[in-house]
Amino acid sequence: RILILDFGSQVTQLIARRLRESGVYCEIIPFNADEARIRAFKPKGVILSGGPASVLDKDAPLPTPAVYELGVPVFGICYGQQAMCLQLGGKVEPGETREFGRAFVDMREASTIAQGDWKPGERQQVWMSHGDRVTALPPGFKVVGNSEGAPYAFVTDEKRKLYGVQFHPEVVHTPHGAELYRAFTHDICGCKGDWTMAAYKTQAIEKLRQQIGKGRVICGLSGGVDSAVTAVLLHEAIGSQLTCIFVDTGMMRAGEADEVVTLFRDHYNIPLVHVDAGKQFLDKLAGVTDPETKRKTIGGLFIDVFDAEASKLGGADFLAQGTLYPDVIESVSFTGGPSVTIKSHHNVGGLPARMKLKLVEPLRELFKDEVRALGRELGLPDVFVGRHPFPGPGLAIRIPGDITFEKLEILRKADRIYLEEIRNAGLYDAIWQAFAVLLPVKTVGVMGDGRTYDNVCALRAVTSTDGMTADYFPFSHEFLGRAATRIINEVRGINRVVYDITSKPPGTIEWE
Ligand code: XMP
Repeated sequence: RILILDFGSQVTQLIARRLRESGVYCEIIPFNADEARIRAFKPKGVILSGGPASVLDKDAPLPTPAVYELGVPVFGICYGQQAMCLQLGGKVEPGETREFGRAFVDMREASTIAQGDWKPGERQQVWMSHGDRVTALPPGFKVVGNSEGAPYAFVTDEKRKLYGVQFHPEVVHTPHGAELYRAFTHDICGCKGDWTMAAYKTQAIEKLRQQIGKGRVICGLSGGVDSAVTAVLLHEAIGSQLTCIFVDTGMMRAGEADEVVTLFRDHYNIPLVHVDAGKQFLDKLAGVTDPETKRKTIGGLFIDVFDAEASKLGGADFLAQGTLYPDVIESVSFTGGPSVTIKSHHNVGGLPARMKLKLVEPLRELFKDEVRALGRELGLPDVFVGRHPFPGPGLAIRIPGDITFEKLEILRKADRIYLEEIRNAGLYDAIWQAFAVLLPVKTVGVMGDGRTYDNVCALRAVTSTDGMTADYFPFSHEFLGRAATRIINEVRGINRVVYDITSKPPGTIEWE
């Protein structure tokens, strides 16, 4: 097991993910953990994460110097490298320029951590993000690689098994970065790589039992994978102390609301309150056309309905949410700091503030594919676990302009045919998200001998790894032709189909 000391970098969780990917168990704890806590963990190795601070600040966060005396290997990343060099007698100075983004490291010397693509003579693309830099090494250290802006980009003390890099090997922009973590954990720390999602499940359940005790928990189901996995995990941990509430906004795809109810009530036997609030949502949305107003209207009403149902249940102590790690990053950048609001996601935030309940977020450290693996581990059916992401506001943000029940029904039919064709073609799992959009645009057509004047349907399908960036999916023309023909023939109200070939950025995945 490996211990990660967290200095607050936005990408610390990615380090944990890289380790889990290679079958290594790890835990992230705050940088200021004391020696006793660190020793009690009995780590085989310690990683010092990056962080936003400067080691030159008066109250700079530093780990206890005892981490270098444990007799286990230490790997410092970016800020972690600087902290290590400073604490062991090296020197750190403010850089003349901040180095941010893509850079190249030239490997100069051999090291046990630098194998394969990192052997001497190799040049590796890396992702840098730093203002300060190391300018003199502590005794015992050598430079094994450097970049233009960082002469000490990659340093090691082979004897004491201390390693430091100025860049971030955990991000995808350091394409071969995972190899460094693998070499560190497997070859240097001696981890076997036999840790699995099954072990994660057992630990997560144990943690939940400790956190919740005899408390009562309510969990909102959305029909998506995240909330379903959250609920099933909680059910395994605390059984009947859990009640689920499913607010059916009426904005779901064909058949999905029924699937949720059947799965939870009949298959898992989890107490479930199904609130059929479709009419309420439609009434409230009448005449609303602005995308942000739409999102806020749905988000607001969702909270009202959920809150009302929860109070009918009588006192609960905890609210469970299927927040994932990317939601944590996104909601930070969506709400705080200098970045602008692109879209207000309606499922994070809001509820907890209103309900004054303690939060349980068992998926907070995980990424989507890990949540799917956990879902499989919990016995959720493959078709459910493999489902594409679906936005909280549902079909409402796939109907630009005002929303009516008729429009929703037209969209549901087109969307069902589109997805059916995708599944028949065996393409569903190769796509991150695919859906139909009903445009508020009417065009003229001819069917049989008659003139038609109906709506346009846009089809969207994208590939992505995290929803933050995306590419349109390259369907064959034949596939597109088949899907379009079926939609126009089978769905009344649509007489033209177009395919959206915008990537993100500059587009977003959803149309609103
Ligand atoms: P965009 O359209 O911003 O979407 O490129 C990125 C990903 O987020 C999903 N999305 C949402 N998910 N609540 C959600 O739970 C929301 O309000 C929301 N808006 C967008 C979108 O489907 C895509 O996967």
